[in-house]
Amino acid sequence: MSARKRVGILISGRGSNMMALVEAAQAPDYPAEIAIIISSRPDAPGLKWAQDRGLQTLALDHKKFAGREAFDEAIHAALVDHRVDLIALAGFMRIQSAGFVDRWAGRQLNIHPSLLPLFKGLHPHKQALDAGVKISGCTVHFLTAEMDSGPIVAQAAVPVLEGDTPDSLSDRILVAEHRLYPYALALVASGRTRIEAGQVKVATGSAAPDPLFSPQLERLVNGGHT
Ligand code: GRF
Repeated sequence: MSARKRVGILISGRGSNMMALVEAAQAPDYPAEIAIIISSRPDAPGLKWAQDRGLQTLALDHKKFAGREAFDEAIHAALVDHRVDLIALAGFMRIQSAGFVDRWAGRQLNIHPSLLPLFKGLHPHKQALDAGVKISGCTVHFLTAEMDSGPIVAQAAVPVLEGDTPDSLSDRILVAEHRLYPYALALVASGRTRIEAGQVKVATGSAAPDPLFSPQLERLVNGGHT
């Protein structure tokens, strides 16, 4: 196997996606290793989880910096110090400066809990419920200057159920996020993706897959015998 890509994970809170990436990277054949976890909040629960496991961590309190550029510069320096190849944003709640986004173009991933380009920005679960969609999900994409708009690496579909609240939908999508992010990072870290005209092309070599249907509704129609 070629050298594992070194990943810096940026968090601001709970860090459950970070945990999924850390756990995936423990497999000896995983194409990436976690070089450092940086939190924009010193009190982030995810940071404590990582510290308790002896992982390399850094708390950079964004409130202690003069502005966005200075904060981003400190993050950039830490990533370079730890010889990071790829960034994975995992619930990182700071908007990045254009300079930082440019420097890491094509090397920075984010996960968003909707099937982009639907429901960008804040409260995507509420947006999905308000729109009445029957399927939502999550998306891993490369970061670009426009929020939640970069080239899509992979998506997972999740049913929306009668009576869902933003919280219940979020819990269901989160389970899919924890599978999707390690999978998408592995695709990128193993060099199987390339960006062409703003879209991610993946070297799969496989035949066209079956279409996906609304899983819950399909079960109803087929009397539970799908
Ligand atoms: C996730 O839903 C992720 O998609 C979004 O923010 C949330 C972060 O959760 N960007 P966690 O901190 O990874 O648990």
